[in-house]
Amino acid sequence: MKLIDGKMIAAKKLLAVQELIEDEELEPKLAVILVGNDPASQLYVKLKVKAAKEVGIELRTYFCEEGTPREEIVESIAFLNADPDTHGIIVQLPLPEHLDADDIIGLIDPAKDVDGFHKTNQEKFLADQACVYPVFPGAIMGLITSCVDDLRGKKAVVLGKSDIFDRVMTHAFAQRECDAIFIGCAQKNEFTLQEKDVINQADIIVTAIGRPGFLSCDLIKDDAIVIDGGISKVGEKVVGDVDRTHCNDRDIFISAVPGGVGPVTIACLLENVTHFAQCKESQCTCEHC
Ligand code: GUN
Repeated sequence: MKLIDGKMIAAKKLLAVQELIEDEELEPKLAVILVGNDPASQLYVKLKVKAAKEVGIELRTYFCEEGTPREEIVESIAFLNADPDTHGIIVQLPLPEHLDADDIIGLIDPAKDVDGFHKTNQEKFLADQACVYPVFPGAIMGLITSCVDDLRGKKAVVLGKSDIFDRVMTHAFAQRECDAIFIGCAQKNEFTLQEKDVINQADIIVTAIGRPGFLSCDLIKDDAIVIDGGISKVGEKVVGDVDRTHCNDRDIFISAVPGGVGPVTIACLLENVTHFAQCKESQCTCEHC
């Protein structure tokens, strides 16, 4: 098994971000809204704060109590949308139950949506007109291309839970002339024989289900690249979707969990903030802003 080290890939990206900020004397500013006390979200935000500080991005965190009414979040986002000093806004997910993620994300000005989660930006991405790459698919692609640059003609399979993840991820592969098949796993307890066959033939497997050990290593062919984006907690341990019990003596590339998709997603986020700050400074040279 060859471990794909997300921390190393993230470090390279962050160094490039830092150099760009220094060379162009940019002052990127990112606002992070964190609602509630979810420990995983608190940890993610802490990691974002640390990485932002290291590269020279000013990150302001807006902490909101668990029961904060929608109207208050609407006001905060409206303020940040209008603030000329804020280049990027994110709302850390998941949100408490009384708030709908799509609704809240939809309030962010798409020109400040540095996660790339806004519906408008997802549609732009699908039409090849996006100004920034959505962070989660961007991180997955970054991990894959650290192993192999040319994806043309390769067979990919994406295991996920949502229609939008299906569309965005398979499009990201199509852009690289790589055929990807999506297998929806939201309601699935086991793979069908046909699905097992598809997985077994795949050169690249992306999984983002959030079910510990759901994908058995036996289904993965030799030399496959596996990006495990499914994060769950089992006791105190953070684990992915792939059951790694028998992976050690196999010839496969597999992303670390933790330390795989997570750190690269943060690096992609900071790349996007810097890009928006750069666009603002230079009256934008990029085609789609
Ligand atoms: N929760 C887990 N990952 C992410 C992310 O990349 N962005 C946001 N906003 N919330 C998350």
